[in-house]
Amino acid sequence: MHFLEVKNLRKSFIKSAATTGFAKWGQAKRKIEVLKDVNFEIKQGETLGLVGESGSGKSTISRLIMHLMDYEGEIVFEGVNLAELKKQEPAEFRKKRCDIQMIFQDPYASLNPTMTIYETIAEAVVARRGKEFAKQEGGESLKNRVKQLMSQVSLKEDWASRYPHEFSGGQRQRIAIARAIAAEPKLLIADEAVSALDVSVQAQVLNLLQELKEDLNLTLLFISHDLEVVRYVSDRVMVIDKGNIVEVADSKTLFESPQHDYTKKLLAARRSVTLA
Ligand SMILES: Nc1ncnc2c1ncn2[C@@H]1O[C@H](COP(=O)(O)OP(=O)(O)OP(=O)(O)O)[C@@H](O)[C@H]1O
Ligand SMILES: [Mg+2]
Repeated sequence: MHFLEVKNLRKSFIKSAATTGFAKWGQAKRKIEVLKDVNFEIKQGETLGLVGESGSGKSTISRLIMHLMDYEGEIVFEGVNLAELKKQEPAEFRKKRCDIQMIFQDPYASLNPTMTIYETIAEAVVARRGKEFAKQEGGESLKNRVKQLMSQVSLKEDWASRYPHEFSGGQRQRIAIARAIAAEPKLLIADEAVSALDVSVQAQVLNLLQELKEDLNLTLLFISHDLEVVRYVSDRVMVIDKGNIVEVADSKTLFESPQHDYTKKLLAARRSVTLA
């Protein structure tokens, strides 16, 4: 049994004429196939990198694994077809879905500006452990759990009553990570999670993810357009071009001897940028 298996995944969007400029040809709408027939697996405990140009479908894959949209094909997590489970046993599905968490490029947009750090993290703890947990020992158990999570991502305990706008980008990403791990996930999807951060802060957040991965037995799907970052963190790397997976290989193999023309092109583009 695979940890996560994606089979024949397809996704189309209907784009309106306003965005495609097709109105002048008398076509009001146009169907765009964003994922064509995507197949891959994620092994338990690995970090799988996903690279490809902007618009190739990387975030769409992550949103579909999170079941934020409908799709064609199958996403099977620990042997369970998630779309089937969602249809047949919604409560079970919600529990299972908690096992998959995500962190995004822009933590500010993903954090609720009206909630303190404590409230943000506590909400995720309660989502996983239930309302009863919040009442245990007069609320002490929840407090201690939030404290523990904040310390796991190196946020100071006395920052708990602050709001997201009082933090730097790197700190906000730590808050988003604390919220994600509060749900006790098995799979963590990082979609451009360090792309907006300064290089030194990027390194700190990457190291934090690496530490958490080991401490919490996480499996990571690491999405980025930054090939160097992907090379640094991934065990295996998957390359996507216009909605098709064109190559999957061990990180070292992929970067040292890419097989597919598109991968070669992507790596060559990176080199020219480095030299510029
Ligand atoms: N909700 C949506 N409605 C219409 N089109 C969409 C929607 N979401 C994504 N798309 C389109 O699907 C394609 C793939 O988008 P996606 O966000 O998956 O790309 P990406 O590889 O993550 O790009 P980036 O590196 O810029 O984040 C793009 O052409 C995008 O415009
Ligand atoms: Mg994206």
